[in-house]
Order: sequence, then C-alpha cells, then structure tokens
Amino acid sequence: MSLEQTQKKLNDYFSEKLDAFGATPKGVDYNGPQAQEHRFEQLSKVIHPEQPFTVVDYGSGYGAMFDFLQKKGWKFEYYGIDLIEKMVLAGRESHKEFPNAHFTTDENEVPQADYLLAGAIFNIKLDTSYEDWQAFVLKTLARMNQLGTKGFSFNMLTKYSDADRMAQRPDLFYGDPLFFFDFCKRNFSRDVALLHDYGLYDFTILVRKDV
Ligand SMILES: C[S@@+](CC[C@H](N)C(=O)[O-])C[C@H]1O[C@@H](n2cnc3c(N)ncnc32)[C@H](O)[C@@H]1O
Repeated sequence: MSLEQTQKKLNDYFSEKLDAFGATPKGVDYNGPQAQEHRFEQLSKVIHPEQPFTVVDYGSGYGAMFDFLQKKGWKFEYYGIDLIEKMVLAGRESHKEFPNAHFTTDENEVPQADYLLAGAIFNIKLDTSYEDWQAFVLKTLARMNQLGTKGFSFNMLTKYSDADRMAQRPDLFYGDPLFFFDFCKRNFSRDVALLHDYGLYDFTILVRKDV
C-alpha cells in the first residue's frame, strides 16, 4: 500500500474513532485518560515552563494536550495541527473559550514555535512496509525539527514491546529506540534524551536545542 493510501485509510480510521467516542481519549484511540496523560507527561518534559512559551501540537487530535498544559497553570500559546478536519473542528469547539488555543489542518498556518510535541502519531502503519514507514517518520521528524526552535518531543511504540516478537501486530510500527536516538543526535541536536522507563510499550525522545 502506498503512503497516500495509508494516510487516507488512517484518516478514515481516526474519523470513525472520533465519531464513535467524541472528544475523549478513546476518540483518538487511547485506552483511557491515564494512558494519554502518562504519555503527555513524558512529552512535556522538553518544555521549560518558567517563561511563557509557544507550542505546536503536531497531530493534535481534538487538543487534549492543550488541557494537560493548561491544568499545569503554564502560560503558553498553543497551535494544534491535525490532518483531519473533524479533529480540528472538535478542537476549536471544545476550546473556544481559550484565546491561546489555535487549531488548523493547514501546516502553512502553523508558526515556528518554541516547542513541538507529537503524541502517538507514528504508531499505525497499516500495510506500509517497515522501511517506507520509517522513511516517512524521518521526513516528518525533519519537519518537526524546523517548527520547534527550542526543542521537540515525540513518542512511538517500541520494538522492545514484547519478548515474543510474534505478538507484535503487523499493522503497527514498532520503532527501534536506539536508531531514533542516534538519528536525532546526529541530525538535530547534541542534547537528546531517550525515555524508556515509564512502564509502557513505547518510548519518548526529547530533542533539546536550548541547553
Ligand atoms: C492517536 S491520535 C493522537 C492525538 C493526540 N496527539 C493525542 O495524543 O491525544 C493521532 C492523530 O495524529 C494525526 N496525524 C497523524 N499524522 C499526522 C501528520 N503527519 N500531520 C498532522 N496530523 C497527523 C491523526 O490525524 C490523529 O488525529
């Protein structure tokens, strides 16, 4: 399956989730709020919140990350971008009382920001080959690096997810944490953290450029 076909199918997949479960963690394919929050906690570690900041949420869904950051009492301007218009509309609707929340489907409308966070956007590859999906991820990381001037973070399922590799699903992408750590270190910054210690079958990478 080509990447374009995969993207189209993924759009349908996530749109159906949103239709079924609304603007809730299940509506963006998490098991529940704890699974989502636990991951946001890792991703947000790239942020230095002492000063007001700007942040792009890349693949924002309906903007649950906004609520997470807002609950912390941090001062920020938030730009959520998602490929799916329905997600963006749901994000705008549920955050209309917040002047610091902005949502779009158009990447050209997203400004460079201090930080970029990308949660759970690389996990499903469907029939795309491992190599093609990895190449797509690397291209997306390069774009993310341009948008987050002080740093960015992302997560993905880990290839260490099960001793018995046969249990891994062929439609999901299980990345190699060491490969991605090395890629980020060589291409984006000397200051890279690999977090693989939070009890889930995924890992988070923080790329810091403001150290
Ligand atoms: C599993 S959901 C996660 C949503 C949100 N990040 C969260 O953690 O609550 C993945 C979302 O990323 C979006 N997405 C995936 N790849 C994207 C890309 N390259 N650009 C923009 N949005 C993307 C999908 O449309 C979907 O809404």
